[in-house]
Amino acid sequence: MSDATPAPSPGATAAAPPSKDEEREDHKGIQLINVTKRYPGQRTPAVDDVTLTIPGGEIVVLLGPSGSGKTTMMRLINRLIEPTSGKIIVAGRDALGLDATELRRHIGYVIQNAGLFPHMTVATNVGLVPQMLKWDKERIAARVDELLELVDMDPATFRDRYPRELSGGQQQRVGVARALAADPPAMLMDEPFGAVDPITREHLQDSLLQLQEELGKTIVFVTHDIDEALKLGDRIAILDQGSRVAQYATPQEILLNPADAYVEQFIGGGQTMRLLQFSRVADVPLQQVPEAAPDDDAATVRERIEAGETTFGIVLDEARRPVRWIHLEDLDGIAGPIGTHGVTTAPPIRTRYTLQQALERLILIEHDWVPVVGPRGVYRGTVTLGTLQHAIKEMKSQTSNGERPAAGS
Ligand SMILES: Nc1ncnc2c1ncn2[C@@H]1O[C@H](COP(=O)(O)OP(=O)(O)OP(=O)(O)O)[C@@H](O)[C@H]1O
Ligand SMILES: [Mg+2]
Repeated sequence: MSDATPAPSPGATAAAPPSKDEEREDHKGIQLINVTKRYPGQRTPAVDDVTLTIPGGEIVVLLGPSGSGKTTMMRLINRLIEPTSGKIIVAGRDALGLDATELRRHIGYVIQNAGLFPHMTVATNVGLVPQMLKWDKERIAARVDELLELVDMDPATFRDRYPRELSGGQQQRVGVARALAADPPAMLMDEPFGAVDPITREHLQDSLLQLQEELGKTIVFVTHDIDEALKLGDRIAILDQGSRVAQYATPQEILLNPADAYVEQFIGGGQTMRLLQFSRVADVPLQQVPEAAPDDDAATVRERIEAGETTFGIVLDEARRPVRWIHLEDLDGIAGPIGTHGVTTAPPIRTRYTLQQALERLILIEHDWVPVVGPRGVYRGTVTLGTLQHAIKEMKSQTSNGERPAAGS
C-alpha cells in the first residue's frame, strides 16, 4: 500500500478552506488512486497499488531505479495504456472520461529518449499537437519557431532537419519543445535531460525552473539522478519496485528525515553539503540590526544602535535598499542628518540564493556582515558565516531529536 498524499507546505493551515486560487490550482493537479498496472504475462505488476497526489502548479519528481515503473506511470496518466485497476484524475475529472484531444491539450508529454517521429522534420514534430487542434498554418509555424528559440535551437538551422540529423541532446530539446507546443497546463517529462552533457543539462534545468516561475505548470518529472531531483522538485517521490512510494516529501525533508534505509541509500553521503546546496537563504532566520535613513539625525541613530546588540546599524534608501553600514564611531562629531556617512555594504545576498552560494560569497568577500535582499532589492536582514552555520546545525538537530520538520507534521 503506497499512501502518499503530500503533507501541507510549511505555514499552510490544514483547516482553512481552499481559496479561489487554490481551487484553480487543484484543478490543474493530477491524482492517482490505488492504481495498479499489470502487463500481460508479467508476474509482478509494474505499478502496484499506487496512490499519489500531484498538486497543481508544482514540480513533482519521480525518482526510482530502472524498471520501477516510472514510464508506466507516465503512460497511465496520459492514457496511452489503461490501468488494470484504480483511478486517475486529471483536470478534476476521471481521466477515462476525457477524450484524446482534451487530454493532449491538457498534458504535454516529453517521451523518454525524445521519441521523435523519424520521418517528420523538427518543425512537424514540434507542431503535432497544434496540428491536431487544427490551428492554422501561420500560427503553427510561428509557435514552432518560438519554441525552438525557447530551447536554444536556432529555428533557421534546425526546423527542416530530421531527427537523425540531430545529436541526442538536441533531440531531447525538440522533445521538450513539442510537449510545450499547445501550452498545456500539465507536463509529463520522462528523463528529458538524460542524454545531454552536464553543462547543457544544468542550463536546461535552469531554464525549466525559470519557465516554471513564469508559467506555473503541473510537472511530473522522471529522473534517476538525485541531484537533479533535489534541484527541480517541489516534492520528490522516491520509488521502489512496482512504484512503491518509499517517501513523498520536499527535498529538505528527504535530506533531513529519510523515511527508511532504502531512501538513505538513494541520498548517499554528503548530507550537509546537500543541505547547503538545496536550502535557500529565504529559509534561514536572518539577523536584524538597527536601521537608519540618510535623513535621520545622528543622535537618534546613535540611540537606536546603543539600544541594540551590535555596534553598527544599516542605512537604507527610500526604497528600503541597503546602502551603507554606519558604526558608532562614524557618528562622532556629526550634528544633524547622517547623510552619506558610513561605509558602503558589500553587494547584497539574495533570498533566492542557495546557502552554498551565500557561503561562497561570505568566504570570498572582506566583510563579515552582508545584507540580504528580497525581490526588487528590498532589505530583509543580514547574514554572517555564523548565521549559516547556526541554521544548518538547527536543521540537523531537529532530525536527531526525532522531530519532523514543519512539512512533515
Ligand atoms: N509493454 C510492456 N509489456 C510488458 N512489460 C513491460 C512493458 N513495459 C514495461 N514493462 C515492464 O514493467 C516494468 C516497469 O517498466 P517501466 O518502463 O515503467 O520502468 P522505468 O521505471 O521507466 O525504467 P527506466 O528507468 O529504465 O526507464 C519493467 O519491469 C518492464 O520490464
Ligand atoms: Mg522509463
